[in-house]
Amino acid sequence: MDRISGVRKIMRQIELFRKGIDKEYAKLTFKRFRDESFDFKEIPASSGVYGIHPYPAMFHFLVVRKLLKEFSKRGDFVLDPFMGSGVSAVECLISGRNFIGYDINPLAVLIAKVRTTPIKSNLLLEVLEHIIQDFKNQKPEFLEFDNIYYWFDKEVVKDLSRLRQSIFKIEDSVARDFFKVVFSDTVRRVSKARYDEFKLVRKRENNSIRVLKIFKEIALKNIGLLVRFYENFPPTKTILILEERDILNGIPLEDESIDLVITSPPYGDSRTTVAYGQFSKLPLRWLGIEKDVDKVSLGAKIREIHYNLPSEILYKYIEKIAIEDRKRAKEVFSYYEDLYYSIRIISQKVKRDGLVCFVVGNRKVKGLELPTDKISVDFFSAEGFEHQITIIREISRKRMPHKNSPSNIRGIKDSTMKYEYIVILKKLN
Ligand SMILES: C[S@@+](CC[C@H](N)C(=O)[O-])C[C@H]1O[C@@H](n2cnc3c(N)ncnc32)[C@H](O)[C@@H]1O
Repeated sequence: MDRISGVRKIMRQIELFRKGIDKEYAKLTFKRFRDESFDFKEIPASSGVYGIHPYPAMFHFLVVRKLLKEFSKRGDFVLDPFMGSGVSAVECLISGRNFIGYDINPLAVLIAKVRTTPIKSNLLLEVLEHIIQDFKNQKPEFLEFDNIYYWFDKEVVKDLSRLRQSIFKIEDSVARDFFKVVFSDTVRRVSKARYDEFKLVRKRENNSIRVLKIFKEIALKNIGLLVRFYENFPPTKTILILEERDILNGIPLEDESIDLVITSPPYGDSRTTVAYGQFSKLPLRWLGIEKDVDKVSLGAKIREIHYNLPSEILYKYIEKIAIEDRKRAKEVFSYYEDLYYSIRIISQKVKRDGLVCFVVGNRKVKGLELPTDKISVDFFSAEGFEHQITIIREISRKRMPHKNSPSNIRGIKDSTMKYEYIVILKKLN
């Protein structure tokens, strides 16, 4: 059974489902089915190097590993235009695939760079020792920004300011980036915002915060994770390009140069789905690389609805929403319009016969579950792709908030996505 390749296994399941052996599959439409072997429920997505800094809606590394094994070979060029914290980048690095990744969020790019850069523990421990000494001798120059004392106690601001000064002085850029990521996680932990929320929500006061102690604990944990991971999975000599970029402005690669795209776009606009910007706001301010990520992510700019997008099913849903709430329909439309533009840009870069694994969540708006997986198939089909199959996997409850506010009304919440859809498409000749 182990030796049956994933594709063959998938084909077998389709066969079973066609014969009506499994009643649950029988309810689903052809080419879209639930596959529990993609759930990896027992293994946390934040294992190993992926435990370095949390990131919202992170890929499960075993899903990426399985897709890479199934749909690519060593030396292939893999693109992730929404790479987030770089799970696909790490998986390519350890499996000999060349990788190009982009993200609009500077914090995501920083985390991705650190996770893909094996460093010797001696160097990191030496620098950590140096930071701790320097911190103690440092005269703090207090950082200031709007509402800083709403989010941090005065003593915490003082200590974070000292730490920041020490980190910015590190000469080795690789070590500096590593400790910036430790610092970012420290900022999130010592702030008055709730650590386990993606949105910026204030929690109760906590008076006994020891910033340096927390920083040191995170640093030692991250050093252990990085070093052990690359001992077990040695990096290969591949091309690795990680860049901050709004991909709606284009992708600077030759057309038809990519063998495989593995990516997961935002599931909807940042206001009502995952707020990457709010998640990153305080660390970005402290790191001096502030950017209002939520104002530039997919669907941030609200536009009038027009009927030029190549998906009938999309308009059925837009019209249903518009009957109840025209403004909300425009918001939803704007997200899908951006998604379509991004798909057009991505499609140009894929070789003929090349594959795309597009991982999406079907979010709810006004009680309606929007079939983003099917809409994505329509968008890719318009760019010369053929839908191969869609695999449905269950999302770990830890990775996504349990409830969100799809109606955008305070207090009214609904359960968020339980499943994600791995849409697999092939570019035709
Ligand atoms: C679902 S997350 C990807 C998570 C990623 N797979 C991981 O493992 O961490 C979607 C990402 O798309 C990024 N994004 C949103 N709009 C973008 C744009 N126009 N260009 C590039 N990246 C964008 C967000 O910042 C976010 O990191």
